[in-house]
Amino acid sequence: MKSLSKYQLLIEEYIKKNFFDKMSENIYEPINYVLSMTAKRVRPSLCLLATEIFEGDIYKALKPAVALEFFHNFTLIHDDIMDKAPLRRGNLSVHKKWNETTAILSGDLLLIKAYQLLEGLEPELFYKIVRELSNTGVKVCEGQQMDMSLEENSEAIFQQYIEMIQHKTAALIGSALKTGALLAEACEEDANHLYETGKNIGIAFQIQDDLLDVFGQTERIGKKHAGDIYGNKKTILYFKTLAKAKEREREELFYWYSIRTDNIDKIYAVEQIFKKLHIGEEVKKELIRYRQKSLDCLSKVTGNKEKKQALIEFLDESLIRLY
Ligand code: IPE
Ligand code: IPE
Ligand code: MG
Ligand code: MG
Ligand code: MG
Repeated sequence: MKSLSKYQLLIEEYIKKNFFDKMSENIYEPINYVLSMTAKRVRPSLCLLATEIFEGDIYKALKPAVALEFFHNFTLIHDDIMDKAPLRRGNLSVHKKWNETTAILSGDLLLIKAYQLLEGLEPELFYKIVRELSNTGVKVCEGQQMDMSLEENSEAIFQQYIEMIQHKTAALIGSALKTGALLAEACEEDANHLYETGKNIGIAFQIQDDLLDVFGQTERIGKKHAGDIYGNKKTILYFKTLAKAKEREREELFYWYSIRTDNIDKIYAVEQIFKKLHIGEEVKKELIRYRQKSLDCLSKVTGNKEKKQALIEFLDESLIRLY
C-alpha cells in the first residue's frame, strides 16, 4: 500500500528486530510464525499516520503502534479457531499447524505482549492509551460474538450486520487512528473525529473483506476461498442477496445457509446466485457510501493536510485492493 509504505517498513523492521527468543519456550514459535508472515500492517501504520497528522513523533509512537498489530494478530489467531479457517496469510493457520490449545495460548500471550509494549509511556498517556485499547478489546469481543450469533440467526437484518462489523473490525481501525492522535497530544475533538473517520473506513474495509472472500484471488488473499459461505457467515453479500432476490433464489439461499457441508456444490450454487443478481455491484454502492462518510468525518479533523490526504489514498487503495 503506497500511502502507508513508509510506516509499514518501520513496523516491519521493529517486529523483525524484536522477534521473540525461540529458545525460551516453544510457545513463542507460533507467535513468531504469525508475525513473520507478509501482512499489510494497516492498524499500526494508521496509528503512525495519525501521529503525523498532528505533527507528533512517530518514533515515540512506534511501540504503541506495534501493540495494535500484536492485538490484531491475537484476534486473528483466535478468529481462525472460531471460523475453522485452515489458512491465514497464505500459510496454515496456527490451530492447524499446531493445535487449538496452542492457538488459544499463543493468542492470549500476544494480547498480553501488546499491553507490555505500552509500559514505556508516561503515566497520563499510558492511562489514556490503555483505556483506549481495553475499550476496543471489549468491542472486538462483542463483535466476534455477534458474528457467531448471526451465523445461527436466520432472521438477521442488515443493520445487525453493520453493528457487528462496526464492533469486530471498525472499532480497532478507528482506535488505531485515535491512538495515533492521542500519542501526538491532539485535542479530544480531533481525536474523536479521527476515530469516527476510522470507524467508517473500518466498515468499508470489512465490507471489502467480505467481497474478497468470494471474488478475490485466493493466492493473493491467502485465505480459503469462500470460507464465509462454508461457515454460513452473514456477510454483506448475503444481505444484499436477500434484498434483491426473488422467492426462488431466496429459498435457495436459505437452504444453503441452513446446512453445513464441505461440498463444493454449495459454493458453486451460492456464487451463481451472487453473480446472477450482480451482488458485487450492490456491495460497491455501500463501499462508496462508507467512503463518503469517512471523508465527511475527516473534513472535521484539523491537522496536516498532506497527511490527511494520505489517509484518503489509503482508503481508496483498500477499496480496490487485489480485486
Ligand atoms: C484481516 O485483517 C481481518 C479483518 C478485519 C478483515 P487484514 O486484512 O488487515 O489482514 P492482515 O493483517 O493484512 O493479514
Ligand atoms: C475478522 O473478521 C475480524 C476479527 C476480529 C479478526 P473475518 O473473520 O471476516 O476475518 P478474516 O476474513 O478471517 O480475516
Ligand atoms: Mg475469519
Ligand atoms: Mg471471523
Ligand atoms: Mg473475512
